[in-house]
Amino acid sequence: MRGPGEAGVELLSSVVASQDDLHAHFGGIVPEVASRRHIEMIVPVVREALQRADVGWADLSAIAVTVGPGLIGSLVVGVAAAKGLAIARDLPLVGVHHLEGHIYSATVEATLPFPSVVLIASGGHSHLVFMRHHGDYEVLGRTLDDAPGEAFDKGARLLGLPYPGGPALAELADSYDGRADPLPRARLPGSLDFSFSGVKTALARLVKEQELDAEGRARAAAAYQESIALSLCERAIEAAEESGYLPIIAVGGVACNRRLRALLSAKAEEAGLRAIFPEAKLCTDNGAMVAAAGAHKFAHGGGESLDLDCAANLPLKSWARGNRA
Ligand code: KG4
Ligand code: ZN
Repeated sequence: MRGPGEAGVELLSSVVASQDDLHAHFGGIVPEVASRRHIEMIVPVVREALQRADVGWADLSAIAVTVGPGLIGSLVVGVAAAKGLAIARDLPLVGVHHLEGHIYSATVEATLPFPSVVLIASGGHSHLVFMRHHGDYEVLGRTLDDAPGEAFDKGARLLGLPYPGGPALAELADSYDGRADPLPRARLPGSLDFSFSGVKTALARLVKEQELDAEGRARAAAAYQESIALSLCERAIEAAEESGYLPIIAVGGVACNRRLRALLSAKAEEAGLRAIFPEAKLCTDNGAMVAAAGAHKFAHGGGESLDLDCAANLPLKSWARGNRA
């Protein structure tokens, strides 16, 4: 990652070691298996990222690393590797919150409009964040139960689709070309929080009560996808309007969902709002988004000592409140 400059950060290379095949066998992520694979992959991935970017260690000015939240075993591997490299190469360390990584995926070859409302929709989180400026966040709403990606994954399991469920359910839903009315959804008047457990129960009931043929399964997938996408869009638009008709930045694994992108773009336009999405491949977890967040934080004077620690649960905290630079 180079920058940030006038046009955001420049992505020099992005290497992702997916563990999907490994975990598909178990139907979900096995934490112990994940951290062991991290140990094996971290050095080759760093080496390949440097090679593909055609840069050497001497060209680097800092190392960014995720400090949480997430699976603690995997976080420990990342932080230990980053510390080792920082000591060996005498480079500063920048700790990045996972959600901050998602937010900054939108700064690759782009600048963020401020203030704005960020919708973070991933496998573990569903947050609406008011972002005043770089590093200045205020959480407006979050999920009360499942995250949208989790809802996609659980819905996929109910429909007998393979892991990872989100993309499989989305593909099945997109194959349906009829009209799919959304399933009953939770309404939380007066709040910007989300809830996805109701729609999951509605799908479970549908699957249990009806003998679904291939078309019925595709229709159910489309209805389920529509419900999740609508919940996310409605809340994001409400938050943007309430905050003063701000632009909406949608990030996280679920933000690569094609239906969500189309629906949010259309509804935002109707409401006279701007909707911004990072490139789809930067929405799901990747190192480039962490580097992008780290680069911005470092440019604003951020950096950590070698005491840097990680945590499985870590709230999103501002590092630049009041900073309008
Ligand atoms: O952000 P992410 O890569 O990891 C977390 O931080 O959780 O998000 C992963 C989640 C998974 O639940 C996955 O099923 C979901 O994003 N996902 C999708 C799509 N691609 C990934 N959900 C719906 N449609 C997609 N195309
Ligand atoms: Zn993520």
